[in-house]
Parts: sequence; C-alpha cells; structure tokens
Amino acid sequence: MGEFLQKDRILVTGASGQLGQSLRYILEHELTHQKSSAVLNSTPTHEQKTAFTAGHDYIFLDRDQLDLNFRESLSQDIDRLIEEHKPKAFVHAAAYTQVDAAESDEQAAFYVNETATALLAQACAKRNILFVYISSDFVFGGKSTHQKPFTPSDSVAPKGVYARSKAAGEKAVQGASGPHYIVRTSWLFSPFGHNFVKTMLRLAQERLSFISEPNLQTSDRIPPIISVVADQFGCPTSALDLARALILLIATKAPPYGIHHFSNTGPAHWAQLAGAIFEQRNLPITVKPISTEDFAAPAPRPHYSVLENTLDLKARHWKEALAEVLSILKTA
Ligand SMILES: NC(=O)c1ccc[n+]([C@@H]2O[C@H](COP(=O)([O-])OP(=O)(O)OC[C@H]3O[C@@H](n4cnc5c(N)ncnc54)[C@H](OP(=O)(O)O)[C@@H]3O)[C@@H](O)[C@H]2O)c1
Repeated sequence: MGEFLQKDRILVTGASGQLGQSLRYILEHELTHQKSSAVLNSTPTHEQKTAFTAGHDYIFLDRDQLDLNFRESLSQDIDRLIEEHKPKAFVHAAAYTQVDAAESDEQAAFYVNETATALLAQACAKRNILFVYISSDFVFGGKSTHQKPFTPSDSVAPKGVYARSKAAGEKAVQGASGPHYIVRTSWLFSPFGHNFVKTMLRLAQERLSFISEPNLQTSDRIPPIISVVADQFGCPTSALDLARALILLIATKAPPYGIHHFSNTGPAHWAQLAGAIFEQRNLPITVKPISTEDFAAPAPRPHYSVLENTLDLKARHWKEALAEVLSILKTA
C-alpha cells in the first residue's frame, strides 16, 4: 500500500485527443474533489480509496511536446522525456486515428501506430515503467456471421491500414517485453474532439436550421432524414468511462498484465446510436438505416466488433453513458 502514498508521475500521449481530454476531465472534475466512489462505480477497497485520494501526478503530452511522426531523433527525444519526468506509468493514447485517410497514407499510419509505439514501449520496458497501450476493436475483422463478443485471447484479423497498424502496435508492445496493459476499446464518444455523437448533433442542427428557413416552400418542410449505417455492430463507449477505468487500472494494477477489453455494454449499430442521440436530445430527426456498401467509406470496417469487457464487469450501458456526455455538451 505504501506505493500509493507517493505521487507517482504518469505520462500520457495524445493530450488533445478524445481520450486525453477525457482523462484530464475526470482528473480535474472528479478526483481533485475526491469523488472516488463516482469513479469506481462500486464499493472501493481501502487501497483503491488511498490511491485516489493520494492521487497520481498526470502529465499530458501533446504533439508539440512529443511529435510521433518519423524523425531520426525520435528515440532520443523519447529517452529525454522519460528521463526528465521519470514516470511510474506511461499511457499511450496518441495514435494515427484517421481510419479512411490511412488507406492512402500507410507509411505515416504505420510509423505512428507501430514504430513510434515500439520506441515508446521499449523505452519504458528498459526502465520497468508500466506501459498502457490503447488499442482498437478494429483488430477484429468481424465478419457479418460473427455473433459472439470477442475476448482478449481471440485471434485478431485486422482489415484495412488503420486496423493493421493498431494490431502491429499491439505486437510491438508485447515484443518490448516490459510490464504492459493493452486495452482495446471501441466506438469512442465524448464531449471532446471529433466523434460520431458530435457529428450527428452537428448534422441535426444543420438540417433543422435548413427546414426553419423562412423562405422555404411548405412542401420542403419535411422532417429531416439522416442516413446511418445499420449493419455494423459494436459497443459504443464513453471515453469518460474508459478514462475512469484506466485511472483505476493504473492506481490498482489489479488485473493481470496483458490484453484487456473495455467498452460500455449493449451492442448496437450506428443507426441505433444515432437514434438514441436524437431521442435523448428530443430532436425531430428520422434515421434512415443504410448498408456499409451504401455508405462507401474508403476503409473497411468490421461488421461485428463487440468486445467482452474484462476490465470492468459492471460497466454501464452506453445509453446511460451517452446521457452523461450529452449533458456535459449542453453545459459546455
Ligand atoms: N476513437 C475511437 O472510436 C477509438 C476506438 C477504438 C480505439 N481507439 C484508440 O483509442 C486511442 C485514443 O483515441 P482518440 O479517440 O482519443 O483519438 P483522437 O481523438 O483522434 O486523438 C488522437 C491523438 O493522437 C495525437 N496524434 C496523432 N498523431 C500524432 C503524432 N504524429 N504525434 C503526436 N501526437 C499525435 C493527436 O494529436 P493532434 O490533436 O495534434 O492531432 C491526438 O491528440 C487511440 O489509440 C485509438 O486508436 C479509438
């Protein structure tokens, strides 16, 4: 228990991303006010409480502090940062996440997601620093016939550049042979950055402001329709809940090292998620279900990538997590 009483430093990449900002939000809004029970969602043990109240010193790195694109000196720059901060744990939340752009930018996607991840993991392994790599449900190709949630030991079958580069990042972390967690998650949404929930709200606002144009013909004032893919199944997940789970994971190191899955519960397709967003916001939008082929995105997506949650067996339903995110967005 003694180790919890020290303020250990935790380095986090991807400060400006959804997860980076969500981690910051939870640390600032919940942990600094010591609302540990809200974070834990269950009865905390004495050691967990101590970990939260003692706190860790999280240090967030954005692209200006650590650019992970190719350069000769990246390895030395990583060493310098680690020597400067001497962290106890390293959360690698930065990634090349533009799934469609990656299809025509393979070298850059692989450099950031595989090579830079390898350099970070090796630098941590050398110093026995816990390395936490955030990976993706996309490592499972997920055929339409697959109907059973994926467990951490299921074989990966990534399709597309982004998916393959994230799977390669997992291998790089394992290859570094240091203490590590690989946390796969899926369909992240949050009040921050770019995500599906914010895109749907923006589209709804655009369509609704269009039909309220004073010069519009009455015949054109039909309830707006938004077409959304309805044949891909996954678990929408709040980045805030993932942040809570990661903070707990790092504080307790309770689960065994290796691969874990974290998602909110309740498989859904994108059209169901869109419908819930409009329903919870009371927006008169009709969701038109379409197929993956109709949407015609450049990168392939898994038809089924539901994860079996191994980090938080009591994770809440995504609809409840969505309500929290929508309420934060309302007051932002
Ligand atoms: N979003 C999802 O639905 C989802 C699902 C499953 C897994 N994941 C994984 O979860 C993790 C967090 O995702 P997220 O949604 O928070 O991603 P995000 O919002 O797209 O943020 C990505 C972060 O990575 C940083 N980054 C990208 N390229 C970089 C580079 N070359 N050098 C330094 N920083 C760089 C970005 O910095 P800038 O802001 O400067 O670009 C940003 O801070 C990622 O590992 C992702 O693969 C995400």
